[in-house]
Amino acid sequence: MTLEAFRKELKEGIPSVLPAIQDYDTSLNHAPKRKEILSTEEKKLALKNALRYFPVEQHTVLAPEFAEEMKNYGRIYMLRFKPKHKMYARNITDYPGESLQAKSIMLMIQNNLDHAIAQHPDELITYGGNGAVFQNWAQYRLCMQYLTEMTDEQTLTIYSGHPMGLYPSHKDAPRVIVTNGMVIPNYSKPDDLEKLNALGVSQYGQMTAGSYMYIGPQGIVHGTTITLLNGGRKISKNGEGLAGKLFVTAGLGGMSGAQPKAGNIAGCISVTAEVNAKATYTRHSQGWVDEVITNLDDLCARVNLAKKNKEVVSIAYQGNIVDVWEKFDQENVYIDLGSDQTSLHNPWAGGYYPVGISLDEANEMMASNPDLFKEKIQETLRRHVAAVNKHTAKGTYFFDYGNAFLLEASRAGADIMAEDGINFRYASYVQDIMGPMCFDYGFGPFRWVCATAKAEDLEQTDRIACEVLEEIMKVSPVEIQQQMADNIRWIKGAQENKLVVGSQARILYADAEGRIKIAAAFNKAIKEGLIGPVVLGRDHHDVSGTDSPYRETSNIYDGSRYTADMAIQNVIGDSFRGATWVSIHNGGGVGWGEVINGGFGMLLDGTDDTDRRLRSMLFWDVNNGISRRSWARNDEAVFAIKRAMATEPLLKVTIPNYADDDLINTIY
Ligand SMILES: NC(=O)c1ccc[n+]([C@@H]2O[C@H](COP(=O)([O-])OP(=O)(O)OC[C@H]3O[C@@H](n4cnc5c(N)ncnc54)[C@H](O)[C@@H]3O)[C@@H](O)[C@H]2O)c1
Repeated sequence: MTLEAFRKELKEGIPSVLPAIQDYDTSLNHAPKRKEILSTEEKKLALKNALRYFPVEQHTVLAPEFAEEMKNYGRIYMLRFKPKHKMYARNITDYPGESLQAKSIMLMIQNNLDHAIAQHPDELITYGGNGAVFQNWAQYRLCMQYLTEMTDEQTLTIYSGHPMGLYPSHKDAPRVIVTNGMVIPNYSKPDDLEKLNALGVSQYGQMTAGSYMYIGPQGIVHGTTITLLNGGRKISKNGEGLAGKLFVTAGLGGMSGAQPKAGNIAGCISVTAEVNAKATYTRHSQGWVDEVITNLDDLCARVNLAKKNKEVVSIAYQGNIVDVWEKFDQENVYIDLGSDQTSLHNPWAGGYYPVGISLDEANEMMASNPDLFKEKIQETLRRHVAAVNKHTAKGTYFFDYGNAFLLEASRAGADIMAEDGINFRYASYVQDIMGPMCFDYGFGPFRWVCATAKAEDLEQTDRIACEVLEEIMKVSPVEIQQQMADNIRWIKGAQENKLVVGSQARILYADAEGRIKIAAAFNKAIKEGLIGPVVLGRDHHDVSGTDSPYRETSNIYDGSRYTADMAIQNVIGDSFRGATWVSIHNGGGVGWGEVINGGFGMLLDGTDDTDRRLRSMLFWDVNNGISRRSWARNDEAVFAIKRAMATEPLLKVTIPNYADDDLINTIY
């Protein structure tokens, strides 16, 4: 398609003449059929809702077609309206429109739907099985049309994928405000989502899917590398590294696909089980996992050889993870580190597959007999945990990887509770590792995308970021030296590790000082013409963006981990301090109703206005969360917020006083 035709299609929005029906693309990985949840009356409502996007004279054609989609997929995706243009992040100058900021948002939306990145591109799902960018193709088309029309004096509001409209605002306001899955708290059970989503009035945005900030598995490679390195430090007896040690986990999907690569970077042997052959071979062909093995005996032999030779190798096991844990127990294959990254935030709709039945059978059962499917899942979870427990009894260090494994296993009645009956046997990686070592100090998954789509720009930004960090490290306090060193090592190896899938993007853990200085240096380089515009953002899985009691805020111990003030304050604060777009979601990572999380995107265009905005917004975006973590009496965060106050006279944060336990114990 020519550039002109591409621009025309974006500007056209929903075409006035019905486009031809398209063949169902069997080469793509499709979302499983969602379970039937609507009554007949509700199905009528869903149809009427879908038809709102189209002129009345098209309804006689579209109504039966959409009803058929509802019957076949459990959702109305409006597949006829899939655009003809290829989905990928183009150079920002290719996008039509009045506002450079709006163009940067179009670029990021297309990146989230890129076939090399998106898990179920036709169903507009980026990752995590149900992390949607839009609910249907009409929303995509309408949103893109609005973005091509908008000026820097307008703001577009998106309600769970639905573009409500353009509203007058001002140039310092966000160009887009996204909300996903926001519901009245009493209606936030998993089936409420299924129903609202089937009706076409709400969606699960995951974290960076519904906020257009997903950058493929690289985003999590870095976090996983840090987790493994620090996990390795936890199990290290004499300061030795991970060489020759075995890490066992599951999932080669959207984010879980980063695990083998992280294992290689951290320098261990990794085995990652994956039930879906498409996912396995996609990651293998992308070079994210070194070898694929389909037989358990071969797997044991290969792992033993790798251990003997202290190889750094990542192995995919094509099959169910439960079989691996059980087989390694029988064959006495010692596992040093263990975890799991199946999509247990979404256990009943394809996030976690039962052992002993094929993927196709499981997908069929999920839709035709959801009760039996649920039984099979819970049975599998109990077996899974029983096998993990045998290994941990031998010394394996197992951690929850933020996928609701512990939570769902406990709900399934697995032997997962600690002796006190309140806590779990195992810690979440945030409690043990990421919380105290990263988030409390303000280190989190800062990221950027070079909006020119040029690899040379990414190289330049890597170089600039590295120089900034090295400069900061010279005067960093001892408390954060390890973090600084890990991140400098990461950025130095980033080019060689070939992490780019989709847009020219980079992730880098940094604290407030690092983020601001890197962003300001990029903005200066843009002004000087060294590089083109850059989009800044971050994962929601960060210091301030996410309230999630079993994950991001699991190391908050003052009772406030079930509150969501921090995430809400954060997104509001970002929106008036200069973000180009902001988003706030119910659900993400651990499931609907279990977490509130938000994020931002910010276009760096080399202007002085942007320099002002980035300083104000990034400072808030990190220090908001540090303040809350400090108020929860986390020592590392108290240290970090006092440091921030010393550098910024306008910052005044309430610092907690620590009560003496002996005094409290005399009272109760
Ligand atoms: N640790 C983190 O930082 C972090 C960050 C983001 C997400 N997560 C969580 O990790 C989970 C995975 O995310 P994702 O984007 O990779 O999801 P995904 O759905 O793309 O991938 C999960 C994969 O697990 C496979 N799988 C399911 N059951 C299996 C089984 N029993 N044995 C082997 N393979 C099985 C699926 O086929 C799928 O490919 C999510 O719950 C997500 O929220 C963790």
